[in-house]
Amino acid sequence: MHARSPRALSLHCGLPRLEISMLWQHVLGVSRTWLIAHDDEPVDEPDAAAFQALATRRRDGEPMAYLLGEREFMGHRFAVAPGVLIPRPDTEVLVETGLACIAAIASPTVVDLGTGSGAIAISVALARPDAQVTATDFSDDALKIAQANAHTLQARVAFRQGDWYQALPADARYDLILSNPPYIAQGDRHLSEGDLRFEPTTALTDGADGLQALAILAAGAPARLKPGGQIWLEHGWDQAAAVRRLLTEAGLRDASSRRDLAGIERISGASL
Ligand SMILES: C[S@@+](CC[C@H](N)C(=O)[O-])C[C@H]1O[C@@H](n2cnc3c(N)ncnc32)[C@H](O)[C@@H]1O
Repeated sequence: MHARSPRALSLHCGLPRLEISMLWQHVLGVSRTWLIAHDDEPVDEPDAAAFQALATRRRDGEPMAYLLGEREFMGHRFAVAPGVLIPRPDTEVLVETGLACIAAIASPTVVDLGTGSGAIAISVALARPDAQVTATDFSDDALKIAQANAHTLQARVAFRQGDWYQALPADARYDLILSNPPYIAQGDRHLSEGDLRFEPTTALTDGADGLQALAILAAGAPARLKPGGQIWLEHGWDQAAAVRRLLTEAGLRDASSRRDLAGIERISGASL
């Protein structure tokens, strides 16, 4: 085995094989197949150093998505950086449910509130090129990344900055409102575990009981929906009943929830 080859440099690095392979593919800009065929050939010193730096950051717990600079969502590659939440597979049920709601509407108007990397808004815009999609966030960093993703993926999305509904023009009404807001309670132990330690706190927690942003989004929906329009909100595993209540108290009808891939009630929605 060559001493400066990926195979030799990976020995005893303390990471799972799949992660080692993904880091090398990223550093060398090669496919998995190429790496398997050439992993005993020497690499340049800068590439060896780059791999070792990434391996150290990974051992310290940094999410793979931030190290690689991207994460796949709804079959599209989204650039991510520490300023935005890493899109989760759980959120795909929100996009799929939203797309089903607007299936029969020509040129629907859709808004994604708190867009982060743009994952929800851009996925809707790519699936429904006739839709007029707006995405908002109060974070400058998030909006820059979301705008870059829309450009790279060639999605037609209008971006606006501001606090929830205040970011929108006063007279704008939508067929569909989608949001995956911060819903973890302040002090929840999960905030100091795993990937969450590295993600922006303002994307994860409302700084209170976890229901504050969900309550604002539910309460403001009737004034922002077209007749028959729907709002769907992602929430925590134990918040479905509370969110259905918030939607009903806001004056919306037919509040219901849908389960994610793990069978957990992950999103709730209602109609005007
Ligand atoms: C859980 S992340 C969701 C990101 C993205 N939509 C996704 O699903 O991957 C919540 C997002 O809401 C944004 N946010 C938090 N508070 C907000 C507020 N008051 N007004 C607008 N956006 C807010 C955060 O910056 C963050 O991007």
